[in-house]
Amino acid sequence: MKMIFPGISGYGLGTTGFWSGSNPGLDNCIREAVEQYGLTVLDTAEMYGDGRSEEALGKAVRGLDRERLFLIDKILPQNATPEHFRKSLYSSLKRLQTDFLDLYLLHWREETDLTFLVKAMEDAVEEGLIRRWGVSNFDTEDLEDLLAVKNGNRCFCNQIFYNVYERGAEHHLLPFMQAHAILPMAYSSLGSDYHPHPDIHRNRAVSKFCGKAGIAPEAFMLRWNQEHGFCACFSTSSPQHLRDNLCDIPAELQAEFSRIIELEFPCPKQPYPLVKI
Ligand SMILES: NC(=O)c1ccc[n+]([C@@H]2O[C@H](COP(=O)([O-])OP(=O)(O)OC[C@H]3O[C@@H](n4cnc5c(N)ncnc54)[C@H](OP(=O)(O)O)[C@@H]3O)[C@@H](O)[C@H]2O)c1
Repeated sequence: MKMIFPGISGYGLGTTGFWSGSNPGLDNCIREAVEQYGLTVLDTAEMYGDGRSEEALGKAVRGLDRERLFLIDKILPQNATPEHFRKSLYSSLKRLQTDFLDLYLLHWREETDLTFLVKAMEDAVEEGLIRRWGVSNFDTEDLEDLLAVKNGNRCFCNQIFYNVYERGAEHHLLPFMQAHAILPMAYSSLGSDYHPHPDIHRNRAVSKFCGKAGIAPEAFMLRWNQEHGFCACFSTSSPQHLRDNLCDIPAELQAEFSRIIELEFPCPKQPYPLVKI
């Protein structure tokens, strides 16, 4: 699988709603994605199932080579405080049964004291508890505030809602991230079940094209995200969907898909605030 950065695959598997008994299919998908396809990026958060997603992910990757994984976890803004930061981080490490995170993100901004956040993240890097840190759901102004803080420019990644249906980031945020070497990571790359969006399967031009190509629209959508510079995080509990999504796509077919998207799902003309779900 192509890496978009050393150790970071162009696809990531998410784990919302993944905890003991709730989603046994995802367990198999994670192992197959890592072992058969070489996917490294696995995404969780202390919020998901109040830590149960972290526990389930820790179990799912047990026995896999830790150095081949890129584990991402997220701290809630209410825990990004002097009283709670370390407790949250240690609890997440314990639930994931790992000594370190590859990437620790602030889940969303809210009232977070960014000066404290950066210092706490940098101290955790220094101690080897996390390898990198970043943010999620930060719009351009939020990133400007972060970069104004001492060492804020060490922010590695901003994980945002981005897919063929939701392209507002293309106006200012994406160019800003690229200009400041902040890795763009997309969540809900297929549109998510929790946010209203058109059904790509019902779009005539897309269905006709994908039917003829014999490739799932979801596979094209994920590659489309990557071609816009993103690591594309998605979730599935279906091994068949996993294989469909990670299939090889000839460059000329992907280029044709992109042309169709420009016509059917163009970027809105006017800029607007980042959508967060
Ligand atoms: N930072 C944040 O604030 C934030 C917010 C939301 C999500 N996330 C992260 O991003 C991850 C992914 O987002 P998401 O789970 O919301 O949404 P998503 O990946 O956009 O959509 C998941 C849905 O797509 C379906 N799907 C996948 N492949 C398919 C295929 N080939 N054909 C048909 N359906 C397919 C899945 O069903 P099946 O299981 O049946 O395949 C599931 O219902 C999350 O798990 C989480 O880790 C982060």
